[in-house]
Amino acid sequence: MAAQRIAVIGTGYVGLTTAACFARLGHNVVGADVDEAKVAALSRAEVSLHEPALAEIVAEELRSGRLRFAHGLPGTLSEVDFVFLAVPTPTGNDGAADLTAVSTVLAQLREQISPRCVVVVKSTVPVGTVDRIVASLGRTTVVANPEFLREGHAVEDFLHPQRVVVGSADKHAARKVARLYAGTDAPVLMTSSASAELVKYASNCFLAMKLSYVNTLAELCEELGADISDVAEGMRLDQRVGSSFLTPGPGWGGSCLPKDTKALLSTSAAAEVDFPLLDATIATNARQAHRVTDKIRKAAGGALSGVHVGLLGLTFKAGTDDIRDSPALAVAELLAAEGALLTGYDPCVPTGRQVGAVRVVASPYAVAEGASVLAVLTEWPEFAELDWSRVTSAAPHPVIVDTRGLLPASKVAEAGLTLVSVGRRD
Ligand code: UGA
Repeated sequence: MAAQRIAVIGTGYVGLTTAACFARLGHNVVGADVDEAKVAALSRAEVSLHEPALAEIVAEELRSGRLRFAHGLPGTLSEVDFVFLAVPTPTGNDGAADLTAVSTVLAQLREQISPRCVVVVKSTVPVGTVDRIVASLGRTTVVANPEFLREGHAVEDFLHPQRVVVGSADKHAARKVARLYAGTDAPVLMTSSASAELVKYASNCFLAMKLSYVNTLAELCEELGADISDVAEGMRLDQRVGSSFLTPGPGWGGSCLPKDTKALLSTSAAAEVDFPLLDATIATNARQAHRVTDKIRKAAGGALSGVHVGLLGLTFKAGTDDIRDSPALAVAELLAAEGALLTGYDPCVPTGRQVGAVRVVASPYAVAEGASVLAVLTEWPEFAELDWSRVTSAAPHPVIVDTRGLLPASKVAEAGLTLVSVGRRD
């Protein structure tokens, strides 16, 4: 397909990845944002997000001339073929997605885009939003094209997607959007806009459900004397179950799963469809932080007041610097409420910063300094490689609670440390 002119509104990790990768695929792209300082930094190829390969692609495509950034809406909007909306849709007070940013952008766009311009909704929006946009704009060329980008793998997921989903009543417009991805070799699924919107929620909520399921199974394993890593391995070998999202942890978090589970529950309630499975998925996750706190309290000898607990990992998962809705911080909050004194280390969170009740220090060994309990909350691979004798000299007998099943049990035991794991009897 010949190079198309694309505007991407919003330069968060989804918008910026979309803009940079479409430029990489040969299109002419302008990325727009209301944050003037961010636009200035991006124009200098300064990418603050921790996304592998993204900074390099932004720099190369700025140089190639296929990518540029604009503050507010680009002045050349009337000339673009596609406008992608990649603005945030956070959880509103009622649990539903808050569409304020989408509405604001649409109100500004409507006068400026040409009649043949296709409006593409990348933001995660409640089912029915594209139909409402069609009605409000009075044009059919509106397409739902949800994103499936994992933080920390956004570029890889964009350039090698497992699927491209495009949904619209306007099949011609949908096909045009699908063609933008030529070169990625992904299977394309063309649906109605409602189905495309629902695929996104259905996928994220299913992943969350798998995790709540496996976290509860881990608890059951501890009671029954089974080992969750063996049980999960046995499940993974069944292709119908699938091999991923079966590793227990301190709960699922981040900017997507918590928001999308609440939003789908709200959508179901509005549609008067009972969804107890989703309710239980969310409740199980809230309980998980309490369960981890119980383990840490037990490791501390029964009470947390005045006890120094060191936290290894603060981000919501490894490979990102994102601490939004991080399960590690949910646990930290519960620990602090019981009077624990908290230090934390995370390779992607700057030293010296105070994150809630957690004082961020420079290394895992500094976290261990004087700690009675050390809790691994994010699965950064470097925690598996620690020098355990150094940990022992930093704190004489800390108990280590490994919520991610990451640590090499034999090495930790050799150093004379007590390891409390999740999903097996220690
Ligand atoms: C998620 C989806 O995986 C993406 O497909 C989707 O595009 C994205 O949301 C989005 O809606 O934009 P992300 O938020 O980056 O991606 O996070 P995940 O990789 O899904 O992890 C979510 C949580 O589950 C993390 O807290 C992680 O630590 C936890 N997790 C994941 C586990 O505890 N165990 C696992 O086996 C896998």
